Amino acid sequence: MSIVEKAVEKLKNTRPQEPVGLKVAPSAEPGPPYVTSKSSVERLQERIGEIHAAVEKTPVWHVDIEALKWVGVLPSEEAAPRLADELRRIKRPLLANITGNNGAVPVDNGHRIMIASSLPGEGKTFTALNLALSLAMERDFEVLLVDGDAPKCDLTRLLKLEDRPGLMEVLADEQLQPANVIVRTDVPNLLVVPVGGRNPLAAELFSSRRMEYVLREFGGQGRRRLLVFDSPPLLATSEAQVLAPLMGQIILVVAAGSTQQQSVKSAIDTLTGCKCINLILNRARLPAGEDHYGNYYSRYYKDR
Ligand SMILES: Nc1ncnc2c1ncn2[C@@H]1O[C@H](COP(=O)(O)OP(=O)(O)OP(=O)(O)O)[C@@H](O)[C@H]1O
Ligand SMILES: [Mg+2]
Repeated sequence: MSIVEKAVEKLKNTRPQEPVGLKVAPSAEPGPPYVTSKSSVERLQERIGEIHAAVEKTPVWHVDIEALKWVGVLPSEEAAPRLADELRRIKRPLLANITGNNGAVPVDNGHRIMIASSLPGEGKTFTALNLALSLAMERDFEVLLVDGDAPKCDLTRLLKLEDRPGLMEVLADEQLQPANVIVRTDVPNLLVVPVGGRNPLAAELFSSRRMEYVLREFGGQGRRRLLVFDSPPLLATSEAQVLAPLMGQIILVVAAGSTQQQSVKSAIDTLTGCKCINLILNRARLPAGEDHYGNYYSRYYKDR
């Protein structure tokens, strides 16, 4: 029982005292008894209602880690340490590009990180989720994982947030505050923005001025918040190409043994205005037969 609820109980069980030194003659038509006490209780109950409503507005969303492991988007117990280590190697340079540590030159909007790839199925959503969880373990940052893949909305579905308003709604509706589509999760330092309902004008919404405002608001004020965007394939849709110039850092996922060199080159060509492109090789075969990131990690700076 909360302190406020205990206070209500106590007030309910307390009969009001008769005023000392003043005898009030009983009236012929007695008014409602204990009017003063009742209204106090009501006021308190209203207050509790307000508090509960406010808490409900920002509910903590449960991320079902076991279910995510079961469907294979989070690693098994055995594979987890190796993936954790690989993600550490991937996130260090990303963080250095934001903080300027280790001699790195801070990148404009470096806290906006988009996970991209040339074609479908190369591991963008897998990378976005696992990288976001790894970044959320950093002490100095919190992470806002945004589902920017409007056509597929895999991340939104994996996190069971299909019924929530998200990126599409906040872009289309100027009355909706960006903070209202941010979902707090029970994973420490992890916030999520679902993609929301389907919108055939997603590319137009991404390229609108409203998008820049929404991104600024998502960035939080005075907070060290990292934005991790899952996105559709660069060569298959226009949305990702529109999104990319708004980001500070791009991670281009390349599927080992399947992405053609020409596809990677074409994908990089679409990234106009993106100076910091980080390539990672995904699903490199390990001796144990597990699929993980390879040691190949390279940074590609474009001067456009
Ligand atoms: N490194 C990895 N280890 C294990 N499984 C992986 C890895 N990368 C991707 N997968 C699995 O491969 C499948 C495709 O990956 P994912 O959905 O992340 O690709 P995507 O690039 O987001 O695809 P799309 O463009 O269709 O959204 C998923 O089942 C995912 O769990
Ligand atoms: Mg995906």
